[in-house]
Amino acid sequence: MKRPVNWNAAEPSRLFYQTRQRRPLLDRAEGVYLWDRNGKRYLDGCSGAMVSNIGHSNPRVLEAMRLQMQRSTFGYRLHFENEPAEHLAAQIADLCPEGHDRVFFVSGGSEAVESCLKLARQHAITTGQGSRWRVISRNPSYHGCTLGALAITGYRPLTDPFLPMMQRMPSVPAPRCYLDHDSLSDADRGIRYADMLRDKILELGPETVLAFIMEPVGGASTGALVAPDSYYQRVREICDEFGVLLIYDEVMSGAGRTGRYLAADHWGIKPDIIALAKGLAAGYAPLGAMLADNRIIEPVLDAGGFQHGFTYAGNPLACAAGLAVTQEILECGLMEQAASMGKLLKNELEGLMGEFPFIGDVRGKGLLLAFELVASRETMEPLPASLNAYARLVELAYERGLIIYSRRTRDGIEGDHFLVCPPMIITREHIAEIIENLRRSLKALGQELHLPGAGS
Ligand SMILES: Cc1ncc(COP(=O)(O)O)c(C=O)c1O
Repeated sequence: MKRPVNWNAAEPSRLFYQTRQRRPLLDRAEGVYLWDRNGKRYLDGCSGAMVSNIGHSNPRVLEAMRLQMQRSTFGYRLHFENEPAEHLAAQIADLCPEGHDRVFFVSGGSEAVESCLKLARQHAITTGQGSRWRVISRNPSYHGCTLGALAITGYRPLTDPFLPMMQRMPSVPAPRCYLDHDSLSDADRGIRYADMLRDKILELGPETVLAFIMEPVGGASTGALVAPDSYYQRVREICDEFGVLLIYDEVMSGAGRTGRYLAADHWGIKPDIIALAKGLAAGYAPLGAMLADNRIIEPVLDAGGFQHGFTYAGNPLACAAGLAVTQEILECGLMEQAASMGKLLKNELEGLMGEFPFIGDVRGKGLLLAFELVASRETMEPLPASLNAYARLVELAYERGLIIYSRRTRDGIEGDHFLVCPPMIITREHIAEIIENLRRSLKALGQELHLPGAGS
């Protein structure tokens, strides 16, 4: 028998996630807004966790899912193929670089990243390069919470407890040029950071290095970090020089959010393997994918198959949602909208720097944008960690009806950054609403924490 949800914020929930924090019950969601049971409206300023890229309750997606549900909701991949999975694979392969003709479906970002690592390793084995197993990543970075993905993640609060349980992989510094105090040009800085990868490969022994994985536009750990243009091409060259596979983790940056289908497209880079998730089915169903160049997949299939897979792979309902989401993005010009609205939103966030001296940096591409708070813009010293500004500003905005997403840039321990990544359907009016809310929330934060230039 169905039991009524006896929702009382003062009592512990029967669920648990990271903490005991309680949140209001979600009632409904439409477009860029969500409403709780008390009727309070929230603007989804970070698309959940950079997921709801086309907004909520999209009629085309709901109808596609309804039609699919009437046909089938599950068919195990070893027993049946299904139309939505076939169509979606063809569609996203068309949107990805030439030669990436095949898709491996999973249910989320961590699964997609695990799949990339395992495909790379199996490819090495089947091509007589069994000595290659090390995957170099960047620090900070976020690639997922399963132990394989965590082994290549640089975010100490998440990784430290599990260090004895995993094969920790080597890393190079993420190109956080905005923290550098030197006289290099932007282009030279990009090369300098890329060359750190070359040095690392040489230090480890190129014959042991399997792959390099990076988020082309950073996500939760760096807050929308964009490297200098020179970095991307140089990294590609270095990987080619040593036969190291280049994996682009586009779980957050992919599916149109930065204004192109892949963030890689901004720099004309062709990665060897690509991870997608989040915006792929945009929150309508759990879905992720791995794409790889044919020259990586074929030898693995020829040698007896990829020894990896998840029960829900290619789920017809999730793929029907993903297909409708992709059609909506293409037919409604949402990538173009992400590019133009992203430019406007970034300008407005930069405008807030004039009012709040404790905003140290605004960065990102398209609608993958973030700002970071600092104690001093001159030194880029972070705010004292004990102030917990990263949590407090989120609460102040939430109280005022805006949802944003925060993390800590410096090893996950200090350096408060905030991702402002609304759905790609955002309009000028919504942006004005976001900025007005942020202005009021930043003012309240400044006063509460006595931040420089906050007034009283
Ligand atoms: C770049 C990146 N990779 C992987 C993941 C893991 O995705 P999931 O939480 O769906 O497992 C995330 C999630 O935030 C991400 O941003």
